[in-house]
Amino acid sequence: MAADGAPQVTEPEETEVSEAQIAVHWREEELYRPPPKFIGQANASDPAIRARFTEEHFPDCFKEYADLLTWDQYWHTTLDTSNPPFWRWFVGGRLNACYNCVDRHLETRPNQAALIWVPEPESEATHAITYRELYRRVNEFAALLEGFCGLKAGDRITFHMPMVPELPIAMLACARLGIIHSQVFGGFSGAACGGRIADSGSTVLVTIDGYYRNGELIDHKVKADEAVKRAHEEGMDVDKVLVFRRHAGQYASTTPMVDGRDYFVDDVMPEYAGKVVPPVSMPAEAPLFIMYSSGTTGRPKGCQHSTGGYLSYVAGTSKFYQDIHPEDTYWCAADIGWITGHSYIVYGPLALGTTSVMYEGVPTYPDPGRPWRIAERLGVNIFHTAPTTIRMLRKVGPDEPLKYDYHFKHMTTVGEPIEPGVWRWYYDVVGKGEAAIVDTWWQTENGGFLGSTLPALEPMKPGSCGPGVLGIYPVIYDENGEEVPAGSGKAGNICIRNPWPGIFQTIWGDPERFVSTYYEKYCRNKDSTDWHDWPYFANDGAMQAADGYFRILGRVDDVINVAGHRLGTKELESASVLVEEVAEAAAVPVVDELRGRAVEMYISLKPGVDPKSGIEDKVAAAIESEIGKVARPKNVWIVPDMPKTRSGKIMRRVIAGISNFTDVGDITTLANPEVVDEIRVHVEKEKVARGEAPRELTEAEIEEIKKFGQAE
Ligand code: WT7
Repeated sequence: MAADGAPQVTEPEETEVSEAQIAVHWREEELYRPPPKFIGQANASDPAIRARFTEEHFPDCFKEYADLLTWDQYWHTTLDTSNPPFWRWFVGGRLNACYNCVDRHLETRPNQAALIWVPEPESEATHAITYRELYRRVNEFAALLEGFCGLKAGDRITFHMPMVPELPIAMLACARLGIIHSQVFGGFSGAACGGRIADSGSTVLVTIDGYYRNGELIDHKVKADEAVKRAHEEGMDVDKVLVFRRHAGQYASTTPMVDGRDYFVDDVMPEYAGKVVPPVSMPAEAPLFIMYSSGTTGRPKGCQHSTGGYLSYVAGTSKFYQDIHPEDTYWCAADIGWITGHSYIVYGPLALGTTSVMYEGVPTYPDPGRPWRIAERLGVNIFHTAPTTIRMLRKVGPDEPLKYDYHFKHMTTVGEPIEPGVWRWYYDVVGKGEAAIVDTWWQTENGGFLGSTLPALEPMKPGSCGPGVLGIYPVIYDENGEEVPAGSGKAGNICIRNPWPGIFQTIWGDPERFVSTYYEKYCRNKDSTDWHDWPYFANDGAMQAADGYFRILGRVDDVINVAGHRLGTKELESASVLVEEVAEAAAVPVVDELRGRAVEMYISLKPGVDPKSGIEDKVAAAIESEIGKVARPKNVWIVPDMPKTRSGKIMRRVIAGISNFTDVGDITTLANPEVVDEIRVHVEKEKVARGEAPRELTEAEIEEIKKFGQAE
């Protein structure tokens, strides 16, 4: 039904545009060439690499990635497509992931730091763990898992750990034995962890008594009790809870250790001190780990990743896209609780034998100079983070990077679309104009990067991830499966036409959901064993410029339908941050009698900006001029801070709930729950005064608001 009562936006041809074909209003950005100094030393500096990965060389091109690893037994079949879409890579091959990340570096660089751990309190010393030391600690923990917990290849174990070195050590110990690890983000609740324990069928939970965040020693063990309880309610009993201690000999939690269930690792460890456990030679197709996909509503999906395909893919992309050399000091400021940390803090960098930095705490603690002090002190030359962190650092310390003497050769942005203005600050100020930037688009499900420029060979374009990476052939389809051509100015659903080694194997325990979520939509023939008939549907909207570069618009339902015009939240937000005073922006839908939905913008301001200077009007004007009158927001709300998850994602459903006078839902996973009431009181009061309190909403409308920005 056309709900458009506003005469100025009536454009008849719009009704003929299919769902996926959102017209995208975004001006083309200028290209940036990679710095010559970077090109001179890059792993991928010969343009011939592109030719080696074209479709005619698929799937054998991925031998180049697999050959970065040490195999116990070479594979006989590169890609087996006999049971689509359950692809099998490097079939017949055997290897051990821990051996590849640890043992094999002992001969060449035993005394090089494998991990450098930076505790949050600056008074605490930084720890460097050499490859030799890592080998010792991984073996001891593996001996404990085997001897004390009785775990063996194929069993599952859940970690609920913060950013401490015990986490990668425990992961590698599992990999050594073929035990499937499932790390749950430390910031998640005990209940969330318990649900994942039950889903994965883990009998052992590994946790820690406490850790530092924003200057506070947080009681973490308390969550383990809640997790075990929830897992039990869901039918899974945990036998043992292994508890690391943040400070030796102390206990940071107030909860009692449960007799016969909870054990301090340092109490049990002496029996396993000095023990060496041989790495178990695993089939390439054996699962290495499960990673539950992000999202705070809906049943989490346990993405199951393989050993051989996954490790090959993260090693290859770490080499050519992160440009990691063993001599580099690489810092990925993500959390190991997310796939980024698994692939690009632990497995990829360590497979290549480099030094990987881990930081325990909040990037702005105790001040916004912290990341740059860490970089200066450790000589970090590769830096990897997310737009939300970049925006935050720009907001609170726009000139901080200039005060520190560090030099990045390479920087990454990942996780969400980056606004061109934010990209430019990253390039000019953080990178000091010396670093190549890669904007890497991918997902928990994918194992590694899908879209990015090759840093020495392909120019950067702010706001675009670039082309498909080596051996990845993306395509944009509309709702009917018709290809949306490059340069058409239309967006659609981005898909990957081919399988690749890093793709997840299935959803743990739910193969039907795996097929229906990712393959059903664009499958051409369910009986076909030809991979060409099974494109992978990423559930992301995207558009492709004439030069082949992709711009990712976010999950397909992060779209606000105003009078038949589908507006990407990112477009609206990018337009808003063009206003000089604006630091961050979030767009949400509000139920509107005339237009179906209207747009409301929430913005936070840069420090020192007076909120009473007509900024709302400037934001509305910027949106109007960038996108069109149809997108003009009904209201622009200036807020002290956006409600955000601990991982930094703006919780649009919370502000959408406020705008629509509906329930904001569960806010326990927020980093700053206190801000919610403050915003709600202000917005509701204003709306009532403006006569905007909405009618009673329908069930479907409430559901839509509740789910907004929460795509599966
Ligand atoms: C979703 C995946 C895999 C890294 C961490 C997030 C969005 C990811 C980009 C990018 C634009 C991006 C997509 C994707 N996304 N990277 N460079 N540009 N959007 O993993 O939690 O599984 O989220 O994040 O919407 O589907 P995730």
